Order: sequence, then C-alpha cells, then structure tokens
Amino acid sequence: MRDMMAITARPDVISLAGGLPDTSTFPPEAFAAEMDRITRESVAEVLQYGPTEGLDLVREQIVNVMAAEDMRIEAMDVTVTTGGQQAIDLITKVLIDPGDILICDAPTYPGAIPTFCSYEADVIQIECDSDGMKIDLLEETLAELASRGRKPKFIYSVPTFQNPGGVTLSLERRQRLVEIARELEILVIEDNPYGLLRYEGEPLPTLYSLDGGGYVIYLGTFSKILSAGLRIGWIVSPTPVREKVVLGKQAADLCTSTLTQNFAGEYFRKGRWQEYVDDLIDIYRGRRDAMTGAMAEYFPHGAVWNRPEGGLFVWATLPEAINTEDLLARALTKGVAFVPGTSAYVDGRGIHSMRLNFSGVTEDQIIEGVRRIGEAAGEQMALYETMTGEMELPRANRPPEAGEGEA
Ligand SMILES: Cc1ncc(COP(=O)(O)O)c(C=O)c1O
Repeated sequence: MRDMMAITARPDVISLAGGLPDTSTFPPEAFAAEMDRITRESVAEVLQYGPTEGLDLVREQIVNVMAAEDMRIEAMDVTVTTGGQQAIDLITKVLIDPGDILICDAPTYPGAIPTFCSYEADVIQIECDSDGMKIDLLEETLAELASRGRKPKFIYSVPTFQNPGGVTLSLERRQRLVEIARELEILVIEDNPYGLLRYEGEPLPTLYSLDGGGYVIYLGTFSKILSAGLRIGWIVSPTPVREKVVLGKQAADLCTSTLTQNFAGEYFRKGRWQEYVDDLIDIYRGRRDAMTGAMAEYFPHGAVWNRPEGGLFVWATLPEAINTEDLLARALTKGVAFVPGTSAYVDGRGIHSMRLNFSGVTEDQIIEGVRRIGEAAGEQMALYETMTGEMELPRANRPPEAGEGEA
C-alpha cells in the first residue's frame, strides 16, 4: 500500500485508490481569514501544547456535529485524537493484549488492519452483504468462541457507507448488534467517518444512538466533512475507557495540534459547516454516478459492483480469471490506481475485488480512470482466454453484493 501510494502521488496517475476528500472546493478566503484571525488573537496559545483530551472549544463543537446525526453526548465524554486513524490505534492499544480476539467486517477498513496486527490481535472477519455485517454469522461465531471459553474484546465496524464495501448495516441488524453487545457484554466500536455524506435515502440511527453509549464506543473524524489535513478525529467512550485512552494518547503524541483544533473549533462554531457538507454531497453524488456509469460501459462482462447511497467508495468484484493485484500492476502502467480487495482482509480473501474511490478526482478523470481499468481487465481476460481456451469466464464470488452493479 505504501509503495502504491507513492506511485499515486505522481501527477500523471489518476488515483481512484485513496480516500481523499475534495479539499479544492473549500473557499481559500474563508481559510485565510480564519487563520489570520487566529494569528492575531491567540498566537501564543495556538503555538503552545494543549490538554491531551482536546480543547474544550472543539469538544463542544463535536457535541453539535454528533447531534446532526441524532446523538446526544456531553463534551466531557470526548477525547480529541489526531485523526480517526489515531482513534482506532488508541482504542486497540487500550483494549487489546497480544492474542486477544477482535471481530470486524469482511471486508474491513484497510487502514485498521495494520493497527490490529501491530497490537497482535487475533482478527476474525465476519462476511458482509448488501445490508452490512451478517449478524447471524456473527452470532454463530460468538457461540463457537464461547464453546471454547473465548470472547472477543470488541467488535469493530463501519456500519454506515462502509469503507471499503460502501454498504450500510440495516436497521434490524443494528438493533440486533446492540442487543448482542448488551446481552454478552461485548464492546462495539462504531467508526463513522461517512454518516453525514448521504446522497439519497433516509438516515438510519447510529449504533451509538441505539445503545446510548453503554457498550458502543464511537469514533468520529472531521477528515471527510472538512479536511483530512487538519488531522482531527475523536473518541466518545465511557469514563474508564476514556481515562485509559488519554493515558495512551499522552504516550503517543501528548496532544493534537492546537493550531488546527483552534481552526476547526471556530469553523464549526460559526455554524455554516452543514452548507459545506451539502456542497460536498452534490459533488460526490455526481462523481459516484459518473463512476458507476463508466463501470457499466467499460468493465468486463461478469463484473459486479454496488451503487452506495453515501460515502466515498464503490466495491467491485471481477470475474475469477482476474486477480486484482495483478490487475493493479497492469493498471499502474496505464496511469490509474485502485485498492486491491486483499488489502481489506487479514487472510488473503478479496483477490478478485477492488475498492474504487470517487471523491478525490473529477468526473472526467473518474471516467478516464475506469476506462483504463476496464482496458487492463480486458487484456487480463484475453490472456486468460489464450492460456485456457475458455471463453465463458467463471463469475467471482461477490462479497458485499450491495445495490446492483450491472455489467
Ligand atoms: C473507516 C475509516 N476510519 C478511519 C479513517 C481515518 O481517517 P482520518 O485519520 O483521516 O480521520 C478512515 C479514512 O479513510 C476511514 O475510512
């Protein structure tokens, strides 16, 4: 992944690989005016260390941002982190001892896997379909673990517009997951960077709001609704966990940048942030449609993909003749990148799948990028046909069979 990210930084490469928000639409005057004000009014403070749990002005605004998704919290429950990535890292650091079991979606957020592995967790992935994690499979797994005297330390999930699958956990499954957490006293980590980026359909209650914060620990970030460069995320957790998280954060970085916290606190306090999110929604909806439209035109027969109602990703599964790691190598020579499906699993699954991001580049680039991937896939298929003499290609399994990707 690191090597690929280096390649995708090249200007000639169309990257459908990262999860980059489009920051080019943020008005530069608004950014400059706020930074100017901060410099004039509080330079000494913003150039100084701050409290490890975060500045109150940011914690108070996080209360408002979460209220926009119908969650009621107190500012003191919040720990500000250096991005959502640090939130995952701190929660894992605090809760996992080597060999502890944790459960997550299959596929799961690729950035969480190295974190889970670095704390030597024993990761079990539960398959998703178009309604998110299959909770019946989760229950079977928990029962099987219990029969061996084992229990996971937590269940990590991105239930809304999942990265990478784009799928959303249904209401019924949300309710059941929260019931299971309570019945079996298992913590659930709800990671929700994308909940506010909904392009159609009705919002569902978050796991946190269904549970009220007893067993659900909530992870948030400003990366996708404002800026990834600010590096501001957060954790909402019960006090005993929060105290440990703060100790863990002290060891990691003492505090999140006071400069960017001041900017974000003031930006959200002004109350116009939702207008910017609405602008992003309009842009991203168009890009999602450009992507799925181009896939219908250029992807090979037998490919399937979803049309997510929100978030930043489309997940596609190609015919079994195509290994997406090999396809990526070919695609890079054509100047386009995506994330191969194996990055979203701990056990080598996802070999025929790929994650495509539609937020980071323009509609024209998306269409051209998808065309190039389609061309590379066509070449792989032709090679397969030459080598095997088979014209009818087997259809791959389709992990999150979300929406309907017609091909
Ligand atoms: C599910 C999920 N969690 C966490 C993150 C980390 O985001 P950041 O560290 O920028 O807040 C991402 C980024 O793509 C994500 O998709």
